[in-house]
Amino acid sequence: MAKNVAVIGSQWGDEGKGKIVDLLSEKADVIARAQGGNNAGHTVVVGEKKSILHLIPSGILHEGKVCIIGNGVVVDPKVILQEMDELKGQGVKIGPENLLISKRAHVILPYHILMDKLSERSRKKEKIGTTGRGIGPAYSCKASRTGIRMGDFLDKELFTIILKKNIERFNRTFSASFGDPGLEPLGIAEDFSEIAEQLRPFVKDTVGRIHELFDEGRKVLYEGAQGSFLDIDHGTYPYVTSSNSTIGGICTGLGVPPQRIDEVVGIVKAYTTRVGKGPFPAEQDNGVGESLRDKGGEYGATTGRPRRCGWLDMVMVKHAIKVNGITAMAFTKLDVLSGLDRIKVCVAYEYEGKKTMQFPARLKELEKCRPVYEEMDGWKEDVSSAKTIEDLPENARKYLDRIRELAGIDYAYISVGKRRSETIIVRDVFA
Ligand code: GDP
Ligand code: IMO
Ligand code: MG
Repeated sequence: MAKNVAVIGSQWGDEGKGKIVDLLSEKADVIARAQGGNNAGHTVVVGEKKSILHLIPSGILHEGKVCIIGNGVVVDPKVILQEMDELKGQGVKIGPENLLISKRAHVILPYHILMDKLSERSRKKEKIGTTGRGIGPAYSCKASRTGIRMGDFLDKELFTIILKKNIERFNRTFSASFGDPGLEPLGIAEDFSEIAEQLRPFVKDTVGRIHELFDEGRKVLYEGAQGSFLDIDHGTYPYVTSSNSTIGGICTGLGVPPQRIDEVVGIVKAYTTRVGKGPFPAEQDNGVGESLRDKGGEYGATTGRPRRCGWLDMVMVKHAIKVNGITAMAFTKLDVLSGLDRIKVCVAYEYEGKKTMQFPARLKELEKCRPVYEEMDGWKEDVSSAKTIEDLPENARKYLDRIRELAGIDYAYISVGKRRSETIIVRDVFA
């Protein structure tokens, strides 16, 4: 039986999902996104060429694959067209045969983006640090049943009626809460009906299609966006995104049952990063963090913001393994640790004088958690040409052994550089 594999971020996003998805895409027939929107930035480096995917599954770079944007994704129609154009400009083939957008996916419209920006600005000290792409407001409309779905977006008459109502409602809030003049519905309706025509060929019932593909024995790769700790339920609420970026989001966001997920690959970066605000126990707001940021190129793929950096936090990773049922790790950016004299790993938290391995539910508790570190000797060698674990320096192997022991699960992949070829394949998850 064909295997279906999910790729899930086990930290706060930017773990290197794009690189691993690109690598796994070679073996898959279908690559599907289930949640998030263009808040995601997935980097794929092929040779000297770098592509950053925001909405379109990273598998699009491989010819002959079917890419699906599921019902759980929020789609900004302008952004997706722009992304399609950019990719076509790079020679990537995109057409309705290899890119499908769900009729049930909600649309991000200008009032969502304006609301995102105005509410962030008004938050002053308590800013979430969103990407400003309208993600939260679009999911809020979905939950409050005032959203517009792709299928209805294509129905000009219906779209214009709902859009007008929504803009009038949003404008009242813009004016009353933020003193902003708001938006003019007519221009937007015209502007978007042209865009809708360009997108029409791509909009399908993706639930029906993915099940047909299963029946044909196709292998599906689910491309997670964000990370487990940005999940609206399981993340560090309220400093989270507005979708379920943990495993359940795959099922609801694509209309697939759990039996169609055979492997869950957890992407674990060799250290921790976070863009945006919120507590971060193992953060190194010092020279160590700066050197990780410099060596790891830790700047947001979507907003260009410097990422906050810290040591690997195994309390978080263990929690992510539990919540998602991660079956194997794809450990990334090991090469970035080369050259450090000593490497720290957070193995527990100290909370009110007691050691704990539990990731707390409340932010107030997390703020009080102090990381308990284990220290290991580092290595000086460049590891980016390693093809097997045996090729790695002894201290790197010891480090990996300790992480595996703490995680309680094995590696499938160890990434030692940003290119496809710079990967140690421990186990091919599609085999
Ligand atoms: P994603 O959002 O999880 O797909 O990750 P991003 O693309 O936002 O950020 C990961 C960054 O690390 C990108 O610039 C990748 O090119 C890069 N990257 C991925 N894996 C490795 C690795 O093993 N080593 C190094 N040095 N860079 C990597
Ligand atoms: P990928 O898929 C890292 C963060 C934002 C902010 C919070 C809420 O590339 O890993 P939002 O715009 O979603 O309402 O912002 O979530 N965030 C990400 N951080 N990687 C991402 O995606 C992210 N998507 C959202 O920085 O803190
Ligand atoms: Mg990213």
